Amino acid sequence: MKKSEELLERRKRIVPNGVGMFNTATVSSAKNATIIDVDGDEWIDFGGGIGVVNSGHCPDSVVQAIKDQADKYIHTSFNVVTYEPYIELCEKLADILPHGKATKVMLASTGAEAVENAIKIARQATGRQAVLCYTGAFHGRTLMAMTLTSKIDYKLNCGPFAPEVYRLLFPNKYRYGQGLTEEQFVDIELKKLHESGKNVVNPTSLAAIIIELVQGEGGFNVAPKAYIEGLREFCDEHGIMLIFDEVQSGFARTGEWGAMHHYGVTPDISTWAKSLGSGMPISAIIGKAEVMDAAAPSTIGGTYIGNPLSCAAAIATIDFIKDNNLNQRGKDVGEIVLSRFKSMKDRFPQIGDVRGLGAMVAMEFVKNGDPRQPDGDLCVEVVQACAKRGLILLNAGTYKNNIRVLSPLTIEDELLYRGLDILEEEIEKLVGIPVA
Ligand SMILES: Cc1ncc(COP(=O)(O)O)c(C=O)c1O
Repeated sequence: MKKSEELLERRKRIVPNGVGMFNTATVSSAKNATIIDVDGDEWIDFGGGIGVVNSGHCPDSVVQAIKDQADKYIHTSFNVVTYEPYIELCEKLADILPHGKATKVMLASTGAEAVENAIKIARQATGRQAVLCYTGAFHGRTLMAMTLTSKIDYKLNCGPFAPEVYRLLFPNKYRYGQGLTEEQFVDIELKKLHESGKNVVNPTSLAAIIIELVQGEGGFNVAPKAYIEGLREFCDEHGIMLIFDEVQSGFARTGEWGAMHHYGVTPDISTWAKSLGSGMPISAIIGKAEVMDAAAPSTIGGTYIGNPLSCAAAIATIDFIKDNNLNQRGKDVGEIVLSRFKSMKDRFPQIGDVRGLGAMVAMEFVKNGDPRQPDGDLCVEVVQACAKRGLILLNAGTYKNNIRVLSPLTIEDELLYRGLDILEEEIEKLVGIPVA
């Protein structure tokens, strides 16, 4: 038996089934976009630990920063003893991600925690309770975050859920706007938003509206720019906090520090995690100073908020992104993947849509060219076939019918092309060579 198989057997015996498993890869070491498994075999990583290693696996400067910090102190709890790496990281984040005239930042450990805290802050800032969110959304697995998450498979029999959460259809033009221009589609969706004030929830009860500008787990659905502008106006009109969840879209993934830079719209609060720490658990809640200060002492916090090793990793990661012009690289990788996906779509009618923002690029499998007939089975087969060739891929979407690329942005061109070749060859084997 191979060592990988042995390890997976041991996993099966001791780890509960509910801990999801995307594929059979194991790891003994990882560098940039290559994972070496416990048998010494190489894998190309198009998953990036679910969008966490935009700067690659184990960048030297980040590894060194973690080691240096571990030599000094590992934990004091920021609530108890103040340390400089926390402050320095918050200053850096406010500098690259300003929220209006004055910005304040708090740190936590995971994306879900960032979302929980963002909602608590919005509630205190407004004195209101209700929250509006979207179909296709993924905001995490803690109680409020899971409630805000849309896909039922993520929350099956996990209720009761948090009260005062309301949901609108995400403005997904591919699925709901066929035959319309973007302008017509946005016009309809914004009318629905305004109508929701009459038939879903009173806007003056709303503390916050939370949205992913590019839905991550939802399948890289990109919100139209004009919709987000309209959403900002709606929030301003009714005194609602607008929260952008940038946990998956942040830190060069879209070719900018955040997807919000493509929109020119400033939220009141935003949430960040994943590629901020290059794999060390860290998240940030960033917001307008007066909003962030509305939270009373001790209502936000926790033992591990902004762990020193994670802060050191995040500071080094931000420097790495700047020094290596990773935002530009995000644009370049995005162009390579998007143009290749487009040419695959031209070849295979089973691919109904390709889309993305920067290097957040996905393809969607459907039956009969119909956006409302998702083909999750084919997508799962493609992911499994690629795994047999040593390519780690992630699916996404309510129906698991999207393939999304979250490879390190530092991936060598040769490896990127090799991964794309494998994907195209495996789709071709599964659906047959298209007739010219
Ligand atoms: C947009 C978004 N928000 C929140 C989360 C939750 O983050 P975490 O898994 O770190 O709790 C995720 C995770 O995939 C995400 O993509």
